[in-house]
Amino acid sequence: MKNKSDYLVIGSGAAGLSFALRAAEKGTVTVITKKMRADSNTNYAQGGIASVFDPEDSFEAHIEDTLTGGVGLCFEDAVAMIVKEGPARIKDLENWGVSFTYKDGTNLDLGREGGHTRNRIVHAMDKTGKVVEQALLNTVKNHPSIRVLEHYSAVELITEHHLMIGGKTREDSIHCWGIYALNGITGKVDLFLARVTLLATGGCGEVYLHTSNPSIATGDGVAMAYRAGAAVANMEFMQFHPTTLYHPGGDSFLISEAVRGHGGILRNKKGRAFMKDYDSRAGLAPRDVVARAIDAEIKKSGDSCVYLDVTHLDSSDVRTRFPQINEKLLTLNIDMTREPIPVVPAAHYMCGGVLTDLKGRTTIKGLYATGEVACTGVHGANRLASNSLLEALVFSEKAHLSAGDYIDSHTIEIPDIPDWDDRGTFDQEEWVLISHDRKEIQRLMWDYVGIVRSDERLQRNLQRMELIAQQIEAYYKKTTVTPELLELRNLSCVASLITRSALFRKESRGLHYTTDYPKRDDSHWLGSTVIYRNRVTLQEFSVAITETLASG
Ligand code: FAD
Ligand code: SIN
Repeated sequence: MKNKSDYLVIGSGAAGLSFALRAAEKGTVTVITKKMRADSNTNYAQGGIASVFDPEDSFEAHIEDTLTGGVGLCFEDAVAMIVKEGPARIKDLENWGVSFTYKDGTNLDLGREGGHTRNRIVHAMDKTGKVVEQALLNTVKNHPSIRVLEHYSAVELITEHHLMIGGKTREDSIHCWGIYALNGITGKVDLFLARVTLLATGGCGEVYLHTSNPSIATGDGVAMAYRAGAAVANMEFMQFHPTTLYHPGGDSFLISEAVRGHGGILRNKKGRAFMKDYDSRAGLAPRDVVARAIDAEIKKSGDSCVYLDVTHLDSSDVRTRFPQINEKLLTLNIDMTREPIPVVPAAHYMCGGVLTDLKGRTTIKGLYATGEVACTGVHGANRLASNSLLEALVFSEKAHLSAGDYIDSHTIEIPDIPDWDDRGTFDQEEWVLISHDRKEIQRLMWDYVGIVRSDERLQRNLQRMELIAQQIEAYYKKTTVTPELLELRNLSCVASLITRSALFRKESRGLHYTTDYPKRDDSHWLGSTVIYRNRVTLQEFSVAITETLASG
């Protein structure tokens, strides 16, 4: 089956849906998404969206906090852009039907999270993501130019290289004309053609054994873009959220940073508030600092977790402010107003991703990337809480403007693309291999490329990842594709990219901490790690985007 539209959007989270709503004013839009339409990281966001609304706050302060959090690696132009456009994008969300929490009729209730020196987190109680996702889906549903197709997994981007059009080599500039996507219901791979393709596939928390992310977060966009020849940056900076619930029945449930912002205190098993031992900002230090402190406490004591204590706060206020967290904990017989919550860090957010410029353009012509899949330079070596939904909304708006110009100013001739060729493949019925490999990757990444790293662990992991990747590739070539196999192949690719980037950086900075080089080293490593066409280099972000985009 062949599908054609002006814009093809892969992913139905905040980045994809907000782009679709804007692009639909200019042309037809197809959104494909690999599970149900609401299955996304967006749907799980709790804390909110950082933006300057308080008269005591300022753009300068939000920029400064973001740059401090990013430990010298943020691209300042990108940071300034998201901060200054934040209030307008929040208003767009309200126009699309999002009801944020107000403290009175006119003033937004602004929460506080780690690394922010002011209260600036716009939120809908502790369910911001659900409320945003639902409002976007409702608005999209009524739009005549947008169709959303569920249970479609993007397999590969369609480019010259993929098609091997005569005479083209990898050194030529690459164009994207759409994707092959697997229909999870029929099992067939269909062709989706478009003048512009947006990657909005989100992050890759599933590459680790413990994660706050839902199971869709398998890094598909980064893997597809990398295989197609796009530049990928800063993959070593994987963010671990300090506080996910530690409970056999509650794996992957986040306890929002807003709980600490509201006065929650981190304690060890003996009840001691330990964060001041590590940082004067205590529980409101940036995430990398808090996650490492918890990791150290757990390793020192041999305990399985630490505790987040809100029992000293007004109980009815806690229940009102955190209804979703309270409800979830009660189902596990934990009353957060009476007992401390057991918590551990877990993989949460991919600060790296497909390299883009300020307009969301990647190194592949006609291919844009926004949201968690993209590396725009905003987060540097560590993302500040609640800056990611903001980044997704601002960059999707920029990308739609640029994509519209691209369509208007280019005659985009989509070549004759053949249907998916699955001759020579068959159903291997070896599903145990897929689930085993997935678990193995997750376990290895958790043990060897986690919160604390070393050269020895990274080297071991790389060797294993290379072997696993070879086996998966050989299996992929002879097997009828399934969603599980596609995810496994992508997880393996992303795991290698993270490990290679981590091995490359011989210092500790932000989220990348290695015992072999425990200090930050500005004289050698003040730059972004860019992996492009199999080469790893260190570049200043602004230089990386101009040079790689020009050569793309
Ligand atoms: P997503 O919302 O993850 O959407 C990705 C979409 O792509 C999904 O629809 C997925 O199914 C689809 N997809 C993926 N691969 C394929 C494929 N191969 N084919 C087809 N479709 C595909 N950030 C904040 O700013 N504030 C917060 O309070 C906050 N809280 C968070 C809490 C949790 C528990 C988590 C997990 C994250 C939180 N984040 C928060 C981070 C933030 O939610 C995400 O970074 C952001 O929502 C990403 O949006 P996105 O549109 O880029 O990706
Ligand atoms: C949280 O609510 O703690 C998550 C916020 C974020 O990841 O930005």
